[in-house]
Amino acid sequence: MLAILACYLAEVLYYFSRSMADGEYQAPHHAAIRCLGMILIWIPLTSSLLTAETAHWHPYFGAFVLQFSFETITCLMRGRGIGLSQDNRYTNVPLAIGAVRGFNSLLLAIDASFILVSRVSEKGADEEGQSLLGAPQQNGNADYGSIPQSDSDDEEFQDGNKEIKEQQAKRLEEQGGWFGYIKSFAIFLPYLFPRHDWRVMLCLFLRLLNLLSGRVFNLLTPRQLGIITNKLSSGTNVMPWKDVGLWAFYNWFHGYSGLGIVDSFADTYIRNSAFERITMLAYGHLMTLSMDFHTTKDSGEVLKAVEQASSLNQLIEMVLFDIIPVLLDMFIAMAYVTVLFDSYMAFIIMFMGLAYVWIGFKFTTWSQPHRRTYVERQRTENNTVTETITNWATVAYFNRVPFESDRYRSNIKSTIWSHYQYFFRSLGGHAVQDLLTTLAFSACCIFAISQIISGKKPVGNLVTFIMYWGTMMSPLYTMSYSYRYLSSTLIDAERLVQLLNTKSTVSDAENARDLVVKAGKVEFKNVQFFYDPRKEIIRGANLVAEGGQTIAFVGETGGGKSTMLKLLFRFYDVTGGSIMIDGQDLRSVTLSSVREALGLVPQDPALFNQTIRQNVRYARLDASDAEIEDACRAAAIHDDIVSFPDGYNSKVGERGVRLSGGQLQRIAIARVFLKNPKIVLLDEATSAIDSTIESQIQGAFKKLSAGRTTFVIAHRLSTIADANMIIVVDKGEIIERGTHSELLEIGGKYAELWTKQTAGNTSPADSNSTNGDVNDGVLIDITPDEDDDSAKTTGRSQDGNNDSVERRR
Ligand SMILES: Nc1ncnc2c1ncn2[C@@H]1O[C@H](COP(=O)(O)OP(=O)(O)OP(=O)(O)O)[C@@H](O)[C@H]1O
Ligand SMILES: [Mg+2]
Repeated sequence: MLAILACYLAEVLYYFSRSMADGEYQAPHHAAIRCLGMILIWIPLTSSLLTAETAHWHPYFGAFVLQFSFETITCLMRGRGIGLSQDNRYTNVPLAIGAVRGFNSLLLAIDASFILVSRVSEKGADEEGQSLLGAPQQNGNADYGSIPQSDSDDEEFQDGNKEIKEQQAKRLEEQGGWFGYIKSFAIFLPYLFPRHDWRVMLCLFLRLLNLLSGRVFNLLTPRQLGIITNKLSSGTNVMPWKDVGLWAFYNWFHGYSGLGIVDSFADTYIRNSAFERITMLAYGHLMTLSMDFHTTKDSGEVLKAVEQASSLNQLIEMVLFDIIPVLLDMFIAMAYVTVLFDSYMAFIIMFMGLAYVWIGFKFTTWSQPHRRTYVERQRTENNTVTETITNWATVAYFNRVPFESDRYRSNIKSTIWSHYQYFFRSLGGHAVQDLLTTLAFSACCIFAISQIISGKKPVGNLVTFIMYWGTMMSPLYTMSYSYRYLSSTLIDAERLVQLLNTKSTVSDAENARDLVVKAGKVEFKNVQFFYDPRKEIIRGANLVAEGGQTIAFVGETGGGKSTMLKLLFRFYDVTGGSIMIDGQDLRSVTLSSVREALGLVPQDPALFNQTIRQNVRYARLDASDAEIEDACRAAAIHDDIVSFPDGYNSKVGERGVRLSGGQLQRIAIARVFLKNPKIVLLDEATSAIDSTIESQIQGAFKKLSAGRTTFVIAHRLSTIADANMIIVVDKGEIIERGTHSELLEIGGKYAELWTKQTAGNTSPADSNSTNGDVNDGVLIDITPDEDDDSAKTTGRSQDGNNDSVERRR
């Protein structure tokens, strides 16, 4: 291929040297143009074959065959020509060069055909398709084609990027290449440009109109200036009002105050409305996904998918309104310059354009690693600030302000250094590109001036050309730098596609009806469950809670108690057996009706960073202030709230950090009071509450649980001693069940736990333990003194549980 390229270059040189040596000699225009055109084709063809690790041979084979056929035809025609002018010894030079080219292309075609045949017989044609994708499976690095190569260094996409790129590579392969891949985003077109929205359609029409008119005015404006120049240079003294007026009109109409503002408005409108639709699509989908998704996915990545949902819009806009017009502009420019002067000049520009884009690509690739280092250091620098500011107290405890300042300063210094490293490299690229355009511009001007001097073209053409130059340069710039932007936009879009492709594991069945809760009877029938098939969490749980009963779960930490409540709340679907509420299988009713009928106080309640009133109202949006206060009174938090300077209007901080653990739990309880559900689930709701408050809450719970089915998980056994049924869960199995006294009688696990807790009362070692966070890894919350108090104040002794109280005493 290099030989073919060399042959074309040799032919051009031959024509050039002959016309220099012999003033009267005129190189055959068509032959020279053909050579230049072919060089333009063979340069990318050769370089792509030389740089590709594994080639896609079909197009090369086609090119070789075509080259051979054309060369044979031209050689035959030239050969006949020689017969007429045998006296000219130079004429056969192009013929000889052509023959060499022809022979070369024949060899290449044969070679390519052998390769193709052997490939097909070896592995089948599919293998070839893979090669262009860069075989992501082999290196696991999704190095699939020229576009993402650069992107792998891109700033924003390093951490969670690998996974998304692997998925992109997979889809790329499924779609059969880049074209199919980009086309697969077309399913989003209705969201970006919905047909039923006439405003968007109108804006789209205006944008397309502007796109076309922009191409026309790009030509008309410099042309008009050329016309004015020609009139002025023709020696007339008349003011060309009409032409100047037209020129001014074109400028205005094409400018920002004319069509530009309409286009910008239309663009903004389309962007905003697409942003709304796509973001809501992503957000709506995300919020309906089940808990397994939310607990396994990196929330930052998911947020990115929603936040950058508009990147899909940018992707389509970029293709429609950036890349296509640039290509159009290039073709128009070539044609127009040919009309203005000569096709040779169009070739100068074309070669320059190619080199410009290539240099842009090379320099960007070269500077990318440095850009990455720069961004990494910037991130470290930011992390240092965030980390030390959020850990200000720790820094102060150890008096490490000077140490942290030094650390931060050295981070800043290394960031600045890496910025220079990156900056000078990209600056180099710009400088080389600028040098190239200056050279090409000078060459074009020299060529144009020589034509004007020889009287072939009017001077106005030069003015038009100079004015037009700027119009030609900006698309080139876009071309050489947009691929990086395109690839990062593709990653964003891919992230969104992946999010939308994720199916919720818990969703409404096809004929799902609303849950109707009457008595509130809950049944677990041989329930089995695992988060991960390799580890079973619940093994064959059976239980029946009649309407209005209180069921307590106790047991060792990690035994699966919270999981039981999550299953009941249908955060997950059981993997075996079933859960029934009043005879209705949870999987056959709508998710929303289940969540409406059940109230849950989670183990780790979280609040929104809003006022306390807003947070409590979240349970029932139409609740009045009085109802909110009643709920808070019932949860024994009202007095605390009114003691805050801003009362119910106090902001609770992110996730409720400005409240104590006990206050947080009571607000969560107040929410359930306000929601007033028929079935209540309490997950260690009272673990962080002191004994006095606990006794108040116990009273409130009694009120709340009256007539409602209640499931309670408590590590402090004293709080659940009066439950209708206590269920002891151990390693996912129900090992004991019964009332408090029954279980004590059995003398099993429950009795053991109970003894451990109550023994704390008398054991000096235990009572000395600080708040009893963990004891033997069995119980989280053993607060013997408090238990003692609570036992006295909860009034359990009046409920016939005298034995427990007795035993403790
Ligand atoms: N989202 C999850 N994905 C995978 N495993 C989980 C998940 N949530 C809990 N587990 C595991 O399931 C088991 C039971 O957890 P669960 O929260 O039900 O325990 P628990 O009895 O409520 O414990 P504790 O008393 O400490 O609250 C634990 O081994 C835990 O590691
Ligand atoms: Mg738990």
